[in-house]
Amino acid sequence: MNPADTIWMNGEFVPWEDAKVHVLTHALHYGTGVFEGIRAYETERGSAIFRHGDHLERLEQSARLYYMELPHPREQLREATHELISRNGFRSCYIRPLVFRGAGPMGLNPLENEVESVIAVWEWGAYLGEEGKQKGVRGKVSSWRRISPDSLIPHAKASGQYLNSVLAKIESLKAGYEEAILLDDKGYVCEGTGENVFVVKDGVICTPPQTAGILDGINRKSVMQIARDLGYELVERNVARAELAMADEVFLTGTAAELTPLCEIDDLEIGPPGPVTREIQQVFDDALHGRAPQYREWLDVVPVPSKA
Ligand SMILES: Cc1ncc(COP(=O)(O)O)c(C=O)c1O
Repeated sequence: MNPADTIWMNGEFVPWEDAKVHVLTHALHYGTGVFEGIRAYETERGSAIFRHGDHLERLEQSARLYYMELPHPREQLREATHELISRNGFRSCYIRPLVFRGAGPMGLNPLENEVESVIAVWEWGAYLGEEGKQKGVRGKVSSWRRISPDSLIPHAKASGQYLNSVLAKIESLKAGYEEAILLDDKGYVCEGTGENVFVVKDGVICTPPQTAGILDGINRKSVMQIARDLGYELVERNVARAELAMADEVFLTGTAAELTPLCEIDDLEIGPPGPVTREIQQVFDDALHGRAPQYREWLDVVPVPSKA
């Protein structure tokens, strides 16, 4: 991770080292924040943010589900992100907007605490590694189940909810694997710690449905469209644990991990990335980098600042 010079905080651009909060920030104690993970890629047309509008829409929805309003309109957050990328001189970077309950009354009622917002950017390679993207990673089904919709909100990308992913990630790393796969509360395959899951069998691609407690990934939606456009049959249905090991191919999608194949699950070989994964990965990579004209509308090009 390469830090930037400047962070956007509550409407102002501040130096990286000055972007600080009070120790009694509500979100620090109770996890009352919502956030996004977004990426900008270098393209022929300049730095371009992948599905920026969709990410900001999900941010607003996550905030709403936790009874917060975005303190700044989406368009302002979009423009602030453009300026932040330009000011930091990045061509490609990871973007992290965070909206959270700030310092104020302590206790579980957050409604009197002001809603604050920050946007940070930094240079960041693939979450599961470049080699992982090429050769695949080793996964382990976690002993932790994914948060269920009757106690939290899987559809929201909320800070406190990520304790679930953190526990699963630590468990898998300590056991010598690169990623955890969480089952949902009913025992079906749900997702990775920060990725959605796709299983390929006999040319048909399956992915768990919205009702399986997934975060409805923006890369998931993109890959579903790409797969259908390529002519594959794509089905959203519950996936049983054993289907992972019996699959011809398994791959994960997410902003941080992009499209990363799974080569092994619970010490059972799935195999090196197969032809379906490879084909979709190539088109997806072209879409991210502005090389696929049919998906150009997914890119929000960062305007080049005019020289005053
Ligand atoms: C728990 C979880 N599931 C799935 C995803 C994939 O979502 P997206 O493709 O929007 O990055 C993420 C990453 O944001 C995540 O944190």
